[in-house]
Amino acid sequence: MIAATGVAMVQSADIMILAQTISDARTERDKLGRMALVPTMGALHAGHLSLIELARKHAPKVAVSIFVNPTQFGPREDFNKYPRPIEDDLAKCRDAGVDLVFNPPVEQMYLPNFFPEVHLDIPNLSNVLEGRIRPNHFKGVCQVVAKLFNIIRPDVACFGQKDYQQYLVIRAMADALNWPTEIVPGQTLREPDGLAMSSRNQYLSANERERGLSISRALFAARDEFAKGIRQTNRLLATAQNILLDPGNQGRVPLSIDYVAAVDAQTLKDIQVVSTPTLIAVAARVGKTRLIDNVMLIP
Ligand code: PAJ
Repeated sequence: MIAATGVAMVQSADIMILAQTISDARTERDKLGRMALVPTMGALHAGHLSLIELARKHAPKVAVSIFVNPTQFGPREDFNKYPRPIEDDLAKCRDAGVDLVFNPPVEQMYLPNFFPEVHLDIPNLSNVLEGRIRPNHFKGVCQVVAKLFNIIRPDVACFGQKDYQQYLVIRAMADALNWPTEIVPGQTLREPDGLAMSSRNQYLSANERERGLSISRALFAARDEFAKGIRQTNRLLATAQNILLDPGNQGRVPLSIDYVAAVDAQTLKDIQVVSTPTLIAVAARVGKTRLIDNVMLIP
């Protein structure tokens, strides 16, 4: 790997460039041709790596951004304690054959005279589900993704369906504003027991992790019922809720549920009967850790 300043950091057959300033990122990007970007906040896990693989299928060169974006965190959220294992992340990117890593400090992305009120918003999509619980979250996400797209100018960008609403908001934004970047979704990667991979899983104690498992169990149970022919979402949601709230869950404290919802996969509007692709989405807190997950039902 070499930093954009030309300093060799790691010897490797495949050279990976690390850019930490916007101008280096632009210069290095210009040398690379058709490119797919995987935006991340780091603490990379197999889910991120699967997006890197997906990106590789869509373009000869792959860029990864690693930036914990302050504007998408609420005042009481985990911005400060969010994990930042940058050396591990760079090694994972290098092993995955990434061509360019963009890892700017916050001051690069948000200048002191920056106007925080410059936002993009798609209220219909971003005020529901996550947006209802985290009011300015998607404004921050759209803001940073727009900035990353303007810096890297990717031909393709990959987003995970684990954050389905985020994928949908970004895709709608790209369509609405004619961004030239193609937005490609990637499947949710899970641990062998079903828990959706997440950088936040490392906050969980062993006991909390067990309790967190009820999220994927609840979603899979709803999906199984759907597979048996149940189409009324109140029944599917009741099944999911019962598992999430089950106080007999081996004597463990139940999760604190933010939402369990069945929504149209294009509009994110609540639906009563599954007749179009439908997302069953859950957000819940296990102790101090907030986890989200979803499954898609295709009738
Ligand atoms: P982060 O949480 O790091 O996630 C980066 C990308 O990895 C997102 O597209 C997310 O959906 C995807 N991802 C996370 N867990 C996954 C899993 N288990 N399987 C597959 N993909 C998964 O999402 C963000 O960062 C930020 O909001 C960002 C878009 C970078 C803007 O700051």
